[in-house]
Amino acid sequence: MAKLSACAAVSSLLLLLLLLSAAAPPKIEAVAAAASSSYCSIFSFGDSYADTGNNPIVFRRHSIAVNPVMRPPYGATFFHRPTGRQSDGRLVIDFIAESLGLPLVPPFLARNDDRGFRHGGDNFAVGGATAIDASFFHRDDPPGGSIFPLNTSLGVQMQWFESLKPSLCGGNTYKGCKAFFGKSLFFVGSFGANDYLLYMGNRTVPQVRPIVPDVVATISIAIERLITHGATTLVVPGIIPFGCAPPVLVSFANRDPAGHDPTTGCLKGMNDLVTHHNTLLREAVHGIRAKHDDDDVKLVYADFFGPVMEMLTSPAKFGFEDVFEQCCGGPGKFNYNPKVFCGDPGAVTCKDPSKRVFWDGVHLTEAAYRHIAAAWLSSII
Ligand SMILES: *[C@@H]1O[C@H](CO)[C@@H](O)[C@H](O)[C@H]1NC(C)=O
Ligand SMILES: *[C@@H]1O[C@H](CO)[C@@H](O)[C@H](O)[C@H]1NC(C)=O
Repeated sequence: MAKLSACAAVSSLLLLLLLLSAAAPPKIEAVAAAASSSYCSIFSFGDSYADTGNNPIVFRRHSIAVNPVMRPPYGATFFHRPTGRQSDGRLVIDFIAESLGLPLVPPFLARNDDRGFRHGGDNFAVGGATAIDASFFHRDDPPGGSIFPLNTSLGVQMQWFESLKPSLCGGNTYKGCKAFFGKSLFFVGSFGANDYLLYMGNRTVPQVRPIVPDVVATISIAIERLITHGATTLVVPGIIPFGCAPPVLVSFANRDPAGHDPTTGCLKGMNDLVTHHNTLLREAVHGIRAKHDDDDVKLVYADFFGPVMEMLTSPAKFGFEDVFEQCCGGPGKFNYNPKVFCGDPGAVTCKDPSKRVFWDGVHLTEAAYRHIAAAWLSSII
């Protein structure tokens, strides 16, 4: 009972703030629902599938001048401006926050205050982030090689979270944090797509497969650490079938000795790699859940693969068309062009993003994320 009233008190304050602030996009109906939601805030770790605005800040800190994500038409469908989200609108985490009556989860790196309490939680996810530390991927680099991945791995995101912890739960006590984090929803992922695609470099799919257990172990360690900090509800997303994504279909076809799936046209070896990751991750989640059987921990594996595959194989059911054509980018095969990114001059944008699954290549449209959020929500509430 104390749990519900604590959230209700915060949300009425928030409602007031929203009414006072004409600039904020008011989601009054969503806020009104907060009193009935059992979560007070959301904490999120991940890559571009979950990043609500950290990536542009990381780029600025590394003096990387050009970031196509910060140009139109990113954000055009919902925010009407680029926000750092790699989509035309909302991501899965945005839809889930709305459905729970919570504010959209703000990017951690945009905090400019004294790190005092802020309702709504924090999003530590960064576009381009890997699970495994960045240094692993730089081992084979020649001098002056790529600066990617940047220093934003899951371990770094955990450090950011831990730096914030004392201010979130009034000191660093397990009891105080348990009370606060126990009312919070944690997302750990997705992670892995960047690990595999970056490590691929000049390797083949079978040569990448051996790092899958390391990626999954890194995610498992983070989950355990969050539980130790007092997290009780954690959602762990798998990876999308990136063997179907336009840039992968075009650029990695010759790295995949298994070739194309005869029915879908997706790269078989690539999707087997993803399935291997998802299977190990699901097993790891079940293992951790069993270990914490008595601790009132709710740990959910969220399927990112199945819903995307369903949209690609039964597009009409969802109102989608030309599902292998990315909406923004190109011109080129599948509207993908390795030299022209979405947001670049010369990029082509589809007329109706709500009819497409892929937005700018590996990332999805708001329409696709909406369906995935609906699929996940049933297991969260
Ligand atoms: C990466 O970021 C973490 C956390 O901010 C920091 O402690 C670490 O020194 C950084 N590593 C490098 C190589 O910059
Ligand atoms: C990877 O392949 C590219 C072009 O195919 C080549 O230029 C580069 O030297 C290769 N790198 C390594 C480390 O083999």
